[in-house]
Amino acid sequence: MSGPVLGKDLLGLEELSADQIRLILDTAQPLKEISERTIKKVPALRGMTIVNLFFEASTRTRISFEFAEKRLSADTVNVAAAGSSISKGETLVDTARNLEAMRIDMVVIRHGASGAARFLADRIKSNVINAGDGTHEHPTQGLLDLLTLRDRLGDLAGRRVCLVGDVLHSRVARSNLWGLKKLGADVAVCGPRSLLPNAVDELGVRVFDRIEAAIEWAEALNVLRLQLERMQAGYIPSLREYNRVFGVTRERLERAPRDIIIMHPGPMNRGVEIDSDVADGPHSVILEQVTNGVAVRMAVLYLLAGGRPELAEAAKGA
Ligand code: CP
Repeated sequence: MSGPVLGKDLLGLEELSADQIRLILDTAQPLKEISERTIKKVPALRGMTIVNLFFEASTRTRISFEFAEKRLSADTVNVAAAGSSISKGETLVDTARNLEAMRIDMVVIRHGASGAARFLADRIKSNVINAGDGTHEHPTQGLLDLLTLRDRLGDLAGRRVCLVGDVLHSRVARSNLWGLKKLGADVAVCGPRSLLPNAVDELGVRVFDRIEAAIEWAEALNVLRLQLERMQAGYIPSLREYNRVFGVTRERLERAPRDIIIMHPGPMNRGVEIDSDVADGPHSVILEQVTNGVAVRMAVLYLLAGGRPELAEAAKGA
């Protein structure tokens, strides 16, 4: 994709330009207000049909997309692997083509396989939005993280953001890395070497081996979930040991030279990568991230449907 307008699909932040990322964030900003109204609905996507295909567990992303779709007045259908013909062996493409035969407009897909969203997007005419594919990308999570950081820090150019923990298995980390770097942030990662990619030194980011050093440097920490379900074995000695060495704890934050913004994409392993008094503490923006997720997804749906940024303002009042 090139130019400021989004193309057919949103598959990852790697393929977006800085201008396209800014366009989504700038479109999301005024859309936030719709969710604060008593009647949380505008007719921007009236008549459109969107299918949410969730082949992996999800609370935040699935519900957030559904709220975003409903608040823009789209008609939505939710499909999970269990209870659909996927459980009888139907392929992903056959499922999507059958849905298209019923005249749908967009598909939101979460899938355990990296590349599943691209695979689908190349084979169907409907817009495809990646809601997380394996360990590849989770672009709307990356965008809502950027919006939350921008709300707090303003322009992200030169701001210091560290991704902490299981970078190796994290699609959230990959989308954050692309998005933050494109917006000019100074990005770091911190975690045990076993949970950082082999080519971490080629990512163009700082690497901290000690959480204390990351805390001393950063203005914001995005604490990643230890993805225990994606680990075969042997990445860390034990969860207790991980918390002792890399956990984001109140004691560690109290030694920071400045207030640090604390983020987490959820779901959290409390007492492992983050302690409860940090997750629920004064520097946490974890629930702001969730709130911003609805506006970011409204913006993505709206722009992919052909909406122009100036119409987001008009949609607000409609
Ligand atoms: N952050 C995130 O993707 O959460 P869910 O898995 O609950 O959707």
